[in-house]
Amino acid sequence: MTTLKAVRGTRDLLPAETGLWNRIEATARSVFERYNFGEIRTPVFEDTALFSRGVGEETDIVSKEMYTWEDRARAQSEKTQQLTLRPENTAGVVRAYIEHKLGETGQLQKLYYIGPQFRRERPQKGRYRQFSQIGAEVIGPVSAGSESPLRDAEVLEMLSTLLDELGISGWTLKINSVGSASDRPKYIETLKAALAPIVSQMCVDCQRRAVTNPLRVLDCKVPEDQPFIDALPRIADSLDEDSKAHFAAVCAALDAASVPYTRDHRLVRGLDYYTRTTFEFTHGGLGAQNALLGGGRYDGLSELIGGPKAPGIGFAMGEDRLVLTLQAVEAAKAELADAYIAPLGEAQNAAALELARELRRSQPDRPGLRIELGDGSFRLKKSFEAADKVARTIVMLGEDEAKSGILTVKDFASGVQSKVARVELAAFLLSSRNKY
Ligand code: HAM
Repeated sequence: MTTLKAVRGTRDLLPAETGLWNRIEATARSVFERYNFGEIRTPVFEDTALFSRGVGEETDIVSKEMYTWEDRARAQSEKTQQLTLRPENTAGVVRAYIEHKLGETGQLQKLYYIGPQFRRERPQKGRYRQFSQIGAEVIGPVSAGSESPLRDAEVLEMLSTLLDELGISGWTLKINSVGSASDRPKYIETLKAALAPIVSQMCVDCQRRAVTNPLRVLDCKVPEDQPFIDALPRIADSLDEDSKAHFAAVCAALDAASVPYTRDHRLVRGLDYYTRTTFEFTHGGLGAQNALLGGGRYDGLSELIGGPKAPGIGFAMGEDRLVLTLQAVEAAKAELADAYIAPLGEAQNAAALELARELRRSQPDRPGLRIELGDGSFRLKKSFEAADKVARTIVMLGEDEAKSGILTVKDFASGVQSKVARVELAAFLLSSRNKY
């Protein structure tokens, strides 16, 4: 008999891994609570029409990636329905917002979710057919301020906090504006006109997209097509004054909060419901599937699925990709020494060796630390450069430190510099090793 295996694109998570998943979820919940979000859980399957109308018939998700089936009626009172395993959660959240008349509270609804999503994509590292998203949506009547650019900036600022608290550094935030519902058709016409004379020289996917969904041409990754795409008109030039002002206000608020970002004119995203702000956080450690999370504003989605006007903004992070990123961070950290001891001047070399010996030796209550010893003939800059490559921290040992017994320690990941008593140094280095 053939042995049965987990279906292609799906995975078992065993106890060795679930600890990290639970830590990620606990960190996300704690950040969401501080920003006053509440949890929503919507069903894993929905009426297919929710996604075809909400996400868009022409998107890759709806046209080729959904798990859809006909659910036969079991009683006369029931009707046969087309159902779909949810490929994303925003449409479901907005359906629930409409169904439970949450808009009638007059308040903004701030909702988060954690759970499985399903897309029949070609599986590879970081891309699965069942994957988990951690997402959040801010939605409500216009009178509650749901259209305000401050909501966009707050969501982005929350994400930078969440990634910091998860211990993920080195991310890039790309943002763009795809304009209002009336800007988009204008831009699509401009794009179609610009594509017409050149598209025959582009890849077959672009030739198809130029007809079915021209915005998707901007997503093409084929190297030979890039010069054509770079020369296409930009959506920024088709935005009306309100959309331009909205985007400028989002950027100004991000600047004020010191959230770093870059504008990416090609970021149009793969779902049709977006209006105005779109964004993605990417991480270099992820390889080809480098989007950690994506999101944006969807001011017309509620109306598309039969609800009242209810502008909103939100995002979803790929939890599987967060796990991969954190595992890579952990693996890189595991190879680093706990500290690099930098004697400040050759006169401190002997004292530095003594300190290194003390830290490396195991004691009954703690294991020995992994220590790299520098050299007092190095300039401070050279010591820092050497230390940054091989250790998590640098410990500076100069004449003052030797006399006072108080050492200066800098943690490279956080950038924090601390004064630590020599007797407490081993415990300090050990606890910083075990942080996330
Ligand atoms: P999305 O860009 O389709 O947006 O997906 C968001 C994130 O889910 C991606 O950045 C990625 O990390 C993860 N993801 C997507 N597909 C897969 C896959 N096959 N395997 C693993 N991870 C995957 C949405 O889903 C929107 N609902 C986001 C949103 C919320 N926009 C507004 N509100």
